[in-house]
Amino acid sequence: MQSHDLIVIGAGPGGYTAAIRAAQLGLDVACVEKEKALGGTCLRIGCIPSKALLESSEIYERASAGFDQHGVLASGVQLDLARMLRRKDRVVASLTQGVASLVKKNKITRYTGTARFASASSLVIDSRDGTLEIEGKHVVIATGSKSASLPGIELDGDRVGTSTEALSYDEVPGRLAVIGAGYIGLEMGSVWRRLGSEVVVFEYLDRILPGMDLEVAKAAQKILAKQGMQFRLGAKVTGARAAEDACTVEAAGLDPFSCDRVLVAVGRSANTDGLGLEAVGVQLDGRGRIEVEDGFQTSVAGILAIGDVIRGPMLAHKAEEEGIACVERIVTGYGHVNYDAIPGVVYTHPEIASVGKTEEQLEDAGIGFRKGVFPFLANGRAKAIADTNGFVKVLADERTDRVLGVHVIGPHAGDLIAEAAVAIEFGASSEDIARSSHAHPTLAEALKEAALAVDQRAIHF
Ligand code: NAI
Repeated sequence: MQSHDLIVIGAGPGGYTAAIRAAQLGLDVACVEKEKALGGTCLRIGCIPSKALLESSEIYERASAGFDQHGVLASGVQLDLARMLRRKDRVVASLTQGVASLVKKNKITRYTGTARFASASSLVIDSRDGTLEIEGKHVVIATGSKSASLPGIELDGDRVGTSTEALSYDEVPGRLAVIGAGYIGLEMGSVWRRLGSEVVVFEYLDRILPGMDLEVAKAAQKILAKQGMQFRLGAKVTGARAAEDACTVEAAGLDPFSCDRVLVAVGRSANTDGLGLEAVGVQLDGRGRIEVEDGFQTSVAGILAIGDVIRGPMLAHKAEEEGIACVERIVTGYGHVNYDAIPGVVYTHPEIASVGKTEEQLEDAGIGFRKGVFPFLANGRAKAIADTNGFVKVLADERTDRVLGVHVIGPHAGDLIAEAAVAIEFGASSEDIARSSHAHPTLAEALKEAALAVDQRAIHF
């Protein structure tokens, strides 16, 4: 039986990053992945293909609307959807191949097949070529998550589908129903609206983007509605199905809604099925996720877990940080993730980004804070690029001025939030940000000004 210092199950952003870091630290590492392409959901059917389509669809929409205010007149703009989808597939292929070469370069043994525990330190791998047993001193479970559904929703893998299908519709749906106004619903809803669909988003709560700062979520809804996305808030979807000529969505208190396609985006659930966890004694929590202690240790010695399969936000970069901390802890005894400094980004236009605590969380926790807001309308660069929707909000501790949260809706918010994450990681005060020189003219100046606004001394507003 092949034996390794560490076996990682799953080659998504959490798993392959853990494997590479462990190899850098001198361990003999193996990685088991059931798909031929490495990279997991994020690279194959998540973050990357959706961002490729978000970019392409935005170019199409902007070109169709014309750039008249810039003095650039465009006409005869056409959509070649098949080509757009092929470009997305090429982007995915090049990145998954990139991961494969990183795995090879780091001399990580790769097994293609489905792993399950035979004992706490050995795995059976089932593949088309047969069955194989391997053994490891440590096993890291990084099996990720899958789209969740709801009772009454009849997924058919085609017209009533998840984000996976929404990445490859072969024609633009006339009418698309999106169930869930979270990250996926808003991003994929934006893609198809830009390409010409009438998009109606059904959301159970009375707000979009639960978990995000409420003021930002409200602003986002207003902007997205202005772009043509329709919202049915407080709408509890109870059923969705495809019939011969149309699909139907049923929501409590609303008339049945008829459409061409349905995108179900009501969250994701941990991938733990078939791993044989029960037999070896790995405990799950009430929501089907693997229970771990601080060091990613499960209830069984030698078995660890990271990423979407454990508690916390289901984000690729959170999984990566956990993968690194987990294996560093195995080798050095140290390794830590600061969950207060993990940003979240929704790649709509404008982008929506957040790090640290929201106003609501601070209020609930009874933490006094001061707030500084700066609108992109007053930022020179935003004016120059004609992209002035949105604002930056800095929340700082009332007593110490330490930055507790930063929330951005606006152009390139996803890139701007990196500075805020570093500030929080370093325990910066709003004055630290306010006194740091920011190049002019940049969008990043809006963060500096919002930090100044915490003390009512923004210069340009
Ligand atoms: P989500 O948790 O962000 O949003 C799901 C939404 O569905 C919620 O607003 C919820 O209230 C709503 N919902 C639940 N039951 C409902 C019902 N019966 N009727 C109507 N609405 C209902 O989940 P989403 O968008 O599916 O994303 C899954 C995960 O993937 C998230 O954890 C997210 O972090 C991650 N993701 C991250 C992205 C990014 O970082 N840009 C992009 C896409 C996904």
